[in-house]
Amino acid sequence: MGNTVVVGLQWGDEGKGKVTDLLAQRADVVVRYQGGNNAGHTVVVGGRTLKLHLVPSGILHPGVLCLMGDGMVVDPLVLCREIDELEANGVSTGQLRISGNAHLIMPYHIRMDEAQERARGASKIGTTQRGIGPAYCDKTARLPHSIRAWDLLDSQRLTERAAAQLELKNRCFTHLLDAEPMTLEEVVEPILAVAPRLTDRIVDGRTVLYERLDAGASVLFEGAQGTFLDLNHGTYPYVTSSHPIAAEACVSAGLGPGAIDRVIGVAKAYTTRVGAGVFVTEQDNEYGNTIRERGHEYGTTTGRPRRCGWLDCVVLRTAARINGAHAIALTLLDVLDAFDTVPVCVAYELDGRTLEYVPSNQDDLVRCRPVYEELPGWQQPIGGCRTWDDLPAAARAYVERLGQLAGTPVGLVGVGADREQTIILPALG
Ligand code: GDP
Ligand code: IMO
Ligand code: MG
Repeated sequence: MGNTVVVGLQWGDEGKGKVTDLLAQRADVVVRYQGGNNAGHTVVVGGRTLKLHLVPSGILHPGVLCLMGDGMVVDPLVLCREIDELEANGVSTGQLRISGNAHLIMPYHIRMDEAQERARGASKIGTTQRGIGPAYCDKTARLPHSIRAWDLLDSQRLTERAAAQLELKNRCFTHLLDAEPMTLEEVVEPILAVAPRLTDRIVDGRTVLYERLDAGASVLFEGAQGTFLDLNHGTYPYVTSSHPIAAEACVSAGLGPGAIDRVIGVAKAYTTRVGAGVFVTEQDNEYGNTIRERGHEYGTTTGRPRRCGWLDCVVLRTAARINGAHAIALTLLDVLDAFDTVPVCVAYELDGRTLEYVPSNQDDLVRCRPVYEELPGWQQPIGGCRTWDDLPAAARAYVERLGQLAGTPVGLVGVGADREQTIILPALG
């Protein structure tokens, strides 16, 4: 099936886990290309639910190599817990590998994340407090003692590096952030305790991929978060600290753009967002509440209620361009079964002008007003539909219209959380 990127087109939680699991049936390798355990990817198979945070969503397929890519930040303690949970659920993790170049989230990164959020006061981002921003910060700071997965192979080196990092962090905690300092023991001991469990999985990710590709493998690249949480293209500063967009798949894997055959953009049939930041189509009212309850819109990672609103096709159109999406995987269409009409945002209005794309200047974006088109609802359950023709005419019209508005055909429709509750369309390729 060639090499495919699965990328979120909105603000995360679009159903990337479900789509990756589904497409992994035809892949040889699945690479998670960025982010850390800020992600929560849900896979439901035969009524059994698995929540993945670090492990690629191809893990349910025996024989598929699952690689955590260079662009990720990895909390070794969380990873070991996740491996244990999977194994306890009868899922083998024998095919899981970690690229040595992935940076580690250390306990002081988590404390830093909490302390920085506190210091931001009313303008806090609403991070997942998993240490993501501080870990990427250390990576880009290029300190000689930044810690990568490779360092799990050498406990003395890991301890020395952690000690050097901790000295700087403790100065920050006590002098700038009004936070408690940490001891080297509390930072290093838990990591050293789990390191031996991970060493056999640490590989030169790039070379492993080259060998697989040379042998004819198809690679699926799984993004985390979503396009509008991207550090460059998202709603800065209310974003994550990595690049969820499709191009990052190449940056993380060590491949040129020509290596990608297909980009599948995953979008919900409406919009959600967790944490602070602009949200043009937000419905902080009974419509939003209905969407939240029907879609179980509570964070997979933090349990926070997600903010909910109507589908924003300006967001989809822009995200489709940013990612070069060939097709859209439209998830959670069944959540809209309840509405008699379904508004979709077709454009933004700003100072009397009509905008087709999300403006990148955040001062403009916060002043944009949505222009809605009301589409008829279908008001019947669609969870049992398995083909395009099974869908009610109004649901088909909704899907077709949003494909037109996004300038990208819909290749997959999700009508329920289970792997089986999926309709595949010709545009998926
Ligand atoms: P991800 O972070 O993009 O992988 O998405 P999450 O797993 O955080 O959130 C998506 C949620 O929607 C999960 O609870 C999924 O099980 C669920 N889901 C995915 N696709 C569908 C769908 O088509 N219909 C319904 N009802 N639920 C879905
Ligand atoms: P998946 O992969 C939704 C949001 C946080 C916060 C911002 C920054 O499941 O789609 P961070 O902890 O990354 O510094 O938080 O990004 N965020 C997500 N929102 N889904 C995610 O991942 C997210 N990962 C981070 O809520 O607003
Ligand atoms: Mg999620």
